[in-house]
Amino acid sequence: MQLSDKSIIITGASSGIGAAAALLFASEGANVVLGARREAELDALVARIRAEGGSAVSLAGDVTEDSYSKALVDLAVDTFGRLDGAFNNAGIMGEIASVPAMEAANWNLVLATNLTSAFFAAKHQITAMAAAGGGSILFTSSFVGHANAGMPGMGAYAASKAGLIGLAYALAAEHGPEKVRVNALLPGGTRTAMAGEDPDVHETIASLHPLGRMAEPEEIAQSALFLLSDRASFVTGSAMTADGGVSIRLT
Ligand SMILES: NC(=O)c1ccc[n+]([C@@H]2O[C@H](COP(=O)([O-])OP(=O)(O)OC[C@H]3O[C@@H](n4cnc5c(N)ncnc54)[C@H](O)[C@@H]3O)[C@@H](O)[C@H]2O)c1
Repeated sequence: MQLSDKSIIITGASSGIGAAAALLFASEGANVVLGARREAELDALVARIRAEGGSAVSLAGDVTEDSYSKALVDLAVDTFGRLDGAFNNAGIMGEIASVPAMEAANWNLVLATNLTSAFFAAKHQITAMAAAGGGSILFTSSFVGHANAGMPGMGAYAASKAGLIGLAYALAAEHGPEKVRVNALLPGGTRTAMAGEDPDVHETIASLHPLGRMAEPEEIAQSALFLLSDRASFVTGSAMTADGGVSIRLT
């Protein structure tokens, strides 16, 4: 098992990529600490993981609040004795609007949810991991963070996802000496609630990808598993794509 006895926080665990990661990491031996806003979905996922023989706890909250990031770290340390990894994955798309038409409230919400949350998370996670002798932090960025997707109206989302790559680089340089690895994962179009359910939209997104399809959330979770496991023990400061080649087509 690739994550035996590792204590790992996963945010955005109530659906999509985060839920797939929660199930996969638990099946690989991790003690998972699940975070998201929707308590009922988290409770159901914890029950499912336990029924399958895994180990999980959860705490519902809002990642835009510093106190919630700290509470997740405290829950991991209090329950499992330490924190080994964190998949900071919660995110929103926000409104699709050109920058001149965009409300500042949308900009602020997208940046707070996708990027400032990562700053809060990293502060508390690095402190706990450094105390435990090291660990691994992963941010869910996006291919949109480094490639022009040719999709107007994504200024706030693109800026937040590019910011995560910059933050991962900075943290990797700062905290390598404490044996904390920090990376960003850049998924391509993935079949989750964020991508909606319109088959025409799915077809358009799929056509951008050289592999000719969207990803399933479980495929993105496999890449996250690698980056959080000891198999990636020399990988830090990396922005790794799991995007069916879409970045290559767009850059
Ligand atoms: N689906 C895609 O095509 C795609 C592509 C690239 C990157 N991503 C990124 O993957 C990550 C996961 O998204 P997904 O596709 O699984 O979508 P999703 O909508 O299924 O999941 C988003 C998760 O984030 C949580 N969340 C959102 N705002 C929150 C907040 N303020 N506090 C706590 N939790 C919050 C939601 O509750 C949910 O669990 C996001 O960061 C997204 O930007 C998605």
